[in-house]
Amino acid sequence: MKRVDDFRLRFGKKELVPIVIGGMGVDISTAELALEAARLGGVGHISDAMVNTVADRRFNAKFVKDKLKQYKFNVANTDKSMVKFDLDQLVEATKMHVGRTMEAKRGDGLIFVNCMEKLTMNAPRETLRVRMHAALDAGIDGITLAAGLHLGSFALIEDHPRFRDAKLGIIVSSLRALQLFLRKTARTNRLPDYVVVEGPLAGGHLGFGMDWADYDLSTIVTEIQRFLLAEKLDIPLIPAGGVFTGSDAVAFLEKGAAAVQVATRFTVARECGLPEDVQQKYFLASEDQIEVNQISPTGYPMRMLSNSPAIGDGIRPNCEAYGYLLDSNGCCSYITAYNREVEANPGVKRLSVKDKTCLCTQMRNFDLWTCGHNTYRLKDTTRKLDDGSYQLLSAEHIFRDYQFSTDNVIALPE
Ligand SMILES: Cc1cc2nc3c(=O)[nH]c(=O)nc-3n(C[C@H](O)[C@H](O)[C@H](O)COP(=O)(O)O)c2cc1C
Repeated sequence: MKRVDDFRLRFGKKELVPIVIGGMGVDISTAELALEAARLGGVGHISDAMVNTVADRRFNAKFVKDKLKQYKFNVANTDKSMVKFDLDQLVEATKMHVGRTMEAKRGDGLIFVNCMEKLTMNAPRETLRVRMHAALDAGIDGITLAAGLHLGSFALIEDHPRFRDAKLGIIVSSLRALQLFLRKTARTNRLPDYVVVEGPLAGGHLGFGMDWADYDLSTIVTEIQRFLLAEKLDIPLIPAGGVFTGSDAVAFLEKGAAAVQVATRFTVARECGLPEDVQQKYFLASEDQIEVNQISPTGYPMRMLSNSPAIGDGIRPNCEAYGYLLDSNGCCSYITAYNREVEANPGVKRLSVKDKTCLCTQMRNFDLWTCGHNTYRLKDTTRKLDDGSYQLLSAEHIFRDYQFSTDNVIALPE
């Protein structure tokens, strides 16, 4: 019987344990978590979502305070179009976050950054360009392009000296999305180094509509494999979403996947960025508490725990401090929903906004508990302690369980 460790993820001459820990913004997949994956010979992700906030937290910087100071006059204004990111500060924050992580890297593995196109930051092209260039400058091993179609992203870094040496990958949820990407980026003469195929059971935003339950990962992977074979394209495929045990992973590896990308199991690792009380909520979750809804202003369905404090919360938009979801016109669907409620409920102090959420503030405060479909199984991966809480795990324990387990067995911690 095979184990994950019987396979290797190959990038040229480099051989890795075929386990990729997926990006989880905002700083849920911390540098510490990614560093563990790299130390153990796999691939870890940091995320550049809300990088100014993350750099402030990690390094005691003041990027958010500075931005708020600059735009404080606009806080009560419904028009957020003038609230722009200072690109130099964005570069500095990204270089701090990525650079310090890369300096700390040990072991044979790699560290990639998850870069979401949907963080349009009131200047989509310029901010994405700056984020990717700064990450490459700071020595990141690779960039995983996520949440968006990224049809123009390769072109934005074509002029970077590391364009052909850094690993560049994309996340897709359908063959169609992959075909579109390949067609649109053909001009750069550069194929992605890997393609993460994310199915409907993943955490975070989904690349499906509300009919997500009609799809399944293995079918999509097979479809993409057939296409690549027919086109004679040799691109490593990395299935993601619902791979909960080493045996789940082996099933994909045996069918030709290059690696698997996993995340949910690591949300209860000590190195994960979620506060411990939130991690206990993940352990406690039952299957019927895990929902996919449309409250994210990105327009993509998102999976989360139904007891997330963010759901129905009506806080004032905080774009002067954050503003990562402002589109190129300075709009965000949460602002529209919030303003509608303000108008309908004059004088009411604590509003409730049911249809959308202020994703920036809620993610920053760890009040939106996004999670994978299998979160309800996390309680079976650890021990219950005498005080009724669940024991957190080390990332190494989870990683090695994926790497060496057989027969769908999950090793409990010491
Ligand atoms: C808490 C959480 C946050 C996530 N955030 C992101 C994100 O910011 N960007 C992204 O591309 N994927 C995100 N994902 C998706 C993961 O990177 C990964 O592809 C997927 O969840 C793997 O499936 P699994 O969770 O069933 O193992 C997130 C997943 C989780 C569980």
